[in-house]
Amino acid sequence: MTSPATSDLDDAALSPSTTGAEWWRSAVIYQIYPRSFADSNGDGLGDLPGITAHLDDLDALGVDAVWLSPFYRSPQKDAGYDVADYCDVDPLFGTLADFDDLLAAAHARGIRLIVDLVPNHSSDQHAWFQAALAAAPGSPERGRYMFRDGRGENGELPPNNWESVFGGPAWTRVTDPDGAPGQWYLHLFDTSQPDFDWSNPEVQGEFRRILRFWLDRGVDGFRVDVAHGLVKEDGLPDYVPPADAGSMGGGETSVPYWGQPEVHEIYRDWNTVLAEYDGDRALCAEAWLPTIEKTALWVRHDEMHQAFNFEYLETEWDAARLRAVISESLRAYPAVGAPSTWVLSNHDVVRHASRLALTAENPQGHGIGPDSPGKPVPELGLRRARAATALMLALPGSAYLYQGEELGLPEAIDIPDAARQDPTWFRTRGERYGRDGCRVPLPWDADAPAFGFSPTGRSWLPQPADWGSFARSAEAADPTSTLALYRTLLAQRRARGLGTGSLEWIDAGDDVIAFRNGNVTVVANLGAVAVAVPSGRVLAASAPLGDGMLPPDTTVWVASD
Ligand code: NOJ
Repeated sequence: MTSPATSDLDDAALSPSTTGAEWWRSAVIYQIYPRSFADSNGDGLGDLPGITAHLDDLDALGVDAVWLSPFYRSPQKDAGYDVADYCDVDPLFGTLADFDDLLAAAHARGIRLIVDLVPNHSSDQHAWFQAALAAAPGSPERGRYMFRDGRGENGELPPNNWESVFGGPAWTRVTDPDGAPGQWYLHLFDTSQPDFDWSNPEVQGEFRRILRFWLDRGVDGFRVDVAHGLVKEDGLPDYVPPADAGSMGGGETSVPYWGQPEVHEIYRDWNTVLAEYDGDRALCAEAWLPTIEKTALWVRHDEMHQAFNFEYLETEWDAARLRAVISESLRAYPAVGAPSTWVLSNHDVVRHASRLALTAENPQGHGIGPDSPGKPVPELGLRRARAATALMLALPGSAYLYQGEELGLPEAIDIPDAARQDPTWFRTRGERYGRDGCRVPLPWDADAPAFGFSPTGRSWLPQPADWGSFARSAEAADPTSTLALYRTLLAQRRARGLGTGSLEWIDAGDDVIAFRNGNVTVVANLGAVAVAVPSGRVLAASAPLGDGMLPPDTTVWVASD
């Protein structure tokens, strides 16, 4: 092995921006995708009482907070990211009283709760959009959304050439009440998700009201959906993304609907709304942007508090690249007074227990299925995922976990075509599998119907037959399980203050990532040959260590005290 001559090793200690004591600077936040977490009433779809019933499991895991993906009233065309009423619970998931019970039960355990806010678009069943359809062009009702006349002699062509993130055109033409073809409306996502016009003060005021509705109920913050998309470039100029671009943006530098400068005014406004409340309420941006430096603009001191570090999530299993992205993160976020918000999996990406062993390109949102090239070897994927998580949870800053990763769940690849539900699958006519593979309901009990997800054995997406071995019941009894590893990592991270610590690189060779965070030395071996484990007491290892050596695709934490 040769020594790394990387410039990132020149930085002595890299701080996570621990300048404040706010909880979100270092919290581990567990994402719950409610429809796939736990079903209490047997309809095959997870619900809020199901979550409340399992809070003790999350407490035992050792997380600081929970983020709930949408549970609002919705026709469920995009699994709840199509909201018809922002201030009510969909009967599929329960009631507002169930939400209040869940919040109280989480707080009673010292677990904070943040909810998802979807401000870029509503459902086409939202009362505002229905009113817009019934109203005339140029009316205030239409002014809340992005209605435009079509191009062409009779307005028969869409106003521009934008494509939906889910595939197909980003415009749909409406039929006027008299039956004549009318204007077009913009939907960056599904036809059922019309984009709001954020230059309209009425839209701005409505979202202030929605923020306050949930803040008054006691939520600790919001994960903000498509936080880079609310403002569109003046004149709506034509644009076609490159074929290999991730669905949500990210790789491209200038896109007329992502990352427009005026969007920051919205978050400055929301920052003042949150500041009216006690207890460090937080905003977390879901913003897929081309560089870490750009993403850091979302977390300037008067805007949001966290922004998912998607550049980190998208970095392949390569020591030099990971070192570089970690260094860059620990420079760019603290430069604006923010922590880095690490993340490896969520409901929109291939689970990292599969993604890290893919051998073919797979842009975000495209997903993998039976016919995908470069499918992962499961054992290698899981081994790397455990090592990657052990690396991530040692980094200073905040970290998000996605439900099921603590069990080492892989992507479900062999979902039958007829069972698929992601709009991406339909809008691309099966060309992209989409995101169903990371959304399959959790296995709780190896021996129960639907592995304990639902008392009736129903499950809105089929679970792979071999998921019994990943069930919490099986892993809880096994000290070598992924669940046991996560519990150890989270307990040690908390006990040793790693989230509020700082990182000091150690020069350990090209294929090795090594650093100190306080009195913990962390070594991740991404190479093909074993390397020495540093001396000290081993706190955690992502795979068994042999003879004082750290095998390939393994991370170890060693205490020097
Ligand atoms: C991002 C969400 O995470 C994703 O699931 C959803 O489809 C889009 N935004 C549209 O809301």
